[in-house]
Amino acid sequence: MSVDNYVDEKAFRDCVEKAAKILRAEELVAFPTETVYGLGANGLSTRAVQKIFTAKGRPSDNPLILHIGSLAQLGPLLREPISVYAEKLIEHFWPGPLTLIFPASDRVPSVVTGGLDTVAVRMPAHRLAREIIAKAGVPIAAPSANRSGKPSPTRAEHVREDLDGRVAAIIDGGSTGYGLESTVVDVSNREASPRILRPGGITEEGIEETLGVSISMEGSERKKDNVRAPGMKYRHYSPDTDVELVEGSSAVMQARIDEARMHGKRAAAAITSDRADKISADRILVLGDGTDLQTISSHLYDHLRAVDKMDVDVLFVQTFTETGLGKAIMNRLYKAANP
Ligand code: TXA
Ligand code: MG
Repeated sequence: MSVDNYVDEKAFRDCVEKAAKILRAEELVAFPTETVYGLGANGLSTRAVQKIFTAKGRPSDNPLILHIGSLAQLGPLLREPISVYAEKLIEHFWPGPLTLIFPASDRVPSVVTGGLDTVAVRMPAHRLAREIIAKAGVPIAAPSANRSGKPSPTRAEHVREDLDGRVAAIIDGGSTGYGLESTVVDVSNREASPRILRPGGITEEGIEETLGVSISMEGSERKKDNVRAPGMKYRHYSPDTDVELVEGSSAVMQARIDEARMHGKRAAAAITSDRADKISADRILVLGDGTDLQTISSHLYDHLRAVDKMDVDVLFVQTFTETGLGKAIMNRLYKAANP
């Protein structure tokens, strides 16, 4: 079912109705959010949530995010009152691409938390997502709607590629906005400052400005975080083609491309538009204007998926400065390059 524009209110209502009905019947529905497409199931039903892991081929100890449509749905999921930091973050960034980690109540099935005593919660801003959750009347567990190890889907067509026949319905709402998964922030420890477990569309700078405290971490501490965000330890966001990151000028990248081709490899280059006429490769992927990281992040996964359909052996990708949205972009590129 498709709702590419919301001019047709009846088509929109039909989609919401259909998705909610499937969710209430404990089946799976893929639906758009403002970050990436999610693969949804009734988040309070162990039976329904188990189907997500089967459909995705996802390790069962990698916990899921519960998506809520209103603040009234938050309280019952939590073991204790939220901290002042959490309150501020909710006020500023919900609904939106921010996931918060809280101490979980007994109502949250352990299949959702992967056996942890915390739960991840997000209130999406996408209108279709919100309405579907509201209509279903329960929190919706939803990981990204890709097969495990593939880049997250930013268009319904990506979901179809990965999950056709494995879900009851795919709701097509066109391209998602941000194109990268939500920022995950741990606010479960009341004594400590919030910690970013996964960078995303809500930036570290934006969070610091909102809270008035520094939350940046040392490199060594960041390594320890791999344990805290269980998803980090799995292969992620990775095309089948080899991905290599290239720091430096166009000349540096051209040298790498030439070297690969000398070894008989077919090489693609993913570069910003200002470099497009400076690089020669078997295929060129223009990521967008280098000063517009929003556009670059929204198309990044599309490019990573496209490269597997090109007849190339290696993809060279230029790097970005790790500030603002650049941090989330580089986080995903590192994962694509180091499966
Ligand atoms: O934008 C998004 O967040 C998308 C859309 C569909 O909402 N969802 C998404 O879900 O990216 P998923 O399952 O692909 O990623 C969830 C991340 C994983 O890295 C997981 O390990 C982490 O959140 N996570 C979930 N529960 C957690 C918990 N209790 N403690 C720490 N990390 C947790
Ligand atoms: Mg995912």
